[in-house]
Amino acid sequence: MKTYYSEHFTIGENGHLCLDGVDLVEVAERFGTPAYVMSESHLRENCRAFTEAMQRNFGSRYKVAYASKALCARFIYPILASEGIHADVVSGGELYTALKAGFDPKHLHFHGNNKTVSELEMAVDCGIGSVIIDAFEEVDRLEAICAKKGVHQRVLFRVKPGVHADTHEFISTGQNDSKFGFGIEDGEAMRMTRYILEHKHLDFAGIHCHIGSQVFSIDGFARAAKIMFDFFCRIERELHITMDEMIIGGGFGVKYMPEDEPGTFGEKIDAMGQVMRDEAARLGREVPEIVIEPGRSMVCAAGCTLYTVGSVRDIKDARCYVSVDGGMPDNPRFALYQAKYDAVVANRADAPRDKLQTIAGRCCESGDLVARDLQFQTAKAGDILCVFATGAYNYSMASNYNRVPRPPILLVSDGMVREVVRRETYEDLIRNDL
Ligand code: LLP
Repeated sequence: MKTYYSEHFTIGENGHLCLDGVDLVEVAERFGTPAYVMSESHLRENCRAFTEAMQRNFGSRYKVAYASKALCARFIYPILASEGIHADVVSGGELYTALKAGFDPKHLHFHGNNKTVSELEMAVDCGIGSVIIDAFEEVDRLEAICAKKGVHQRVLFRVKPGVHADTHEFISTGQNDSKFGFGIEDGEAMRMTRYILEHKHLDFAGIHCHIGSQVFSIDGFARAAKIMFDFFCRIERELHITMDEMIIGGGFGVKYMPEDEPGTFGEKIDAMGQVMRDEAARLGREVPEIVIEPGRSMVCAAGCTLYTVGSVRDIKDARCYVSVDGGMPDNPRFALYQAKYDAVVANRADAPRDKLQTIAGRCCESGDLVARDLQFQTAKAGDILCVFATGAYNYSMASNYNRVPRPPILLVSDGMVREVVRRETYEDLIRNDL
């Protein structure tokens, strides 16, 4: 059977693109476009693949914590919980969403280089699993909050391993010149450790790093794992303390285009596991509990976006622009990172990909493109386009630019489709206007 992008996308006898057997053209007719559509079974497969890779490397001493920023909406948390997955949050809004979804606060940890006092209070009040400190001032703030409430908070802090990930500059975070984390070589990370230990309401549990996002090379992960593990051991040795946990971030690259070769996340986890086992053997100790925080790799491939083509403008000696009823408001990634996406005409998915076309969004911005110079079926007004791999950093980065309502999220499970986030209405748009 012919598939596109992943084995979850097949082509029906009528030539329509299907997701897990559900006809996406029918979905577009029933729910309208633009619409995000997501495969629950693909999401669950990803949860299980991460869990298996962690188990084979770290036995029972691991956690997989989904990075909520990739896609945060209530529906996702019960799915994660049922797969034994934890999560991270980076704002009061993400925390609120997870709590409203009934997610166990003990299974959450809180990131951010500038959390506000009210966000920290909210985290402490709900009994969050841990707070990942990323500023000296934050230590003071959190200590004051905990002292006032007479409680203790488990904390880790963010380390800069000094590893430069081979990815877009805006999503590379492990290098020395970064607003995140504390350097090992300049002594700042050790200074932060000592500072946290001076605060009696903070229970110091370990260290965290994240080298960047959409990283393909195994080497960056392996180097970060070694640097972090060595630093972890050094803290314990020099300060005569024990810690329980090391978080090594997310960042596992995914396939957007047919030619992308990101490798598997399993091979990156295996490489990190090997490095840590070798180091542990060399130092005569055990590997601590290891936590990973996959965001994109958990949800990206499980999602797609459906659009309706409104017009086609074939400009002589230039490009052929296929305009759709969404774009930058639901997917700002071309405008921000020159991101590439693959797409097909969902109602003629079996036709040859015979024309170089550019998918243009509907906003008053020339940079509002979804895909530039993509070879796919010659499109015409009324066609349904399916853009693949939009599960991560699309809905979560969507805006109401040009006062365009955000699309719904439709979840395909067991051959059925249901709305898990409803389409915004015009009334939603003026809700806060006084
Ligand atoms: N952990 C931390 C501390 C992070 O900062 C991030 C992502 C992750 C985990 C998850 O990384 P992932 O597995 O998704 O690569 N908006 C950008 C991506 C920004 C990622 C920021 N941090 C994009 O659309 O490409």
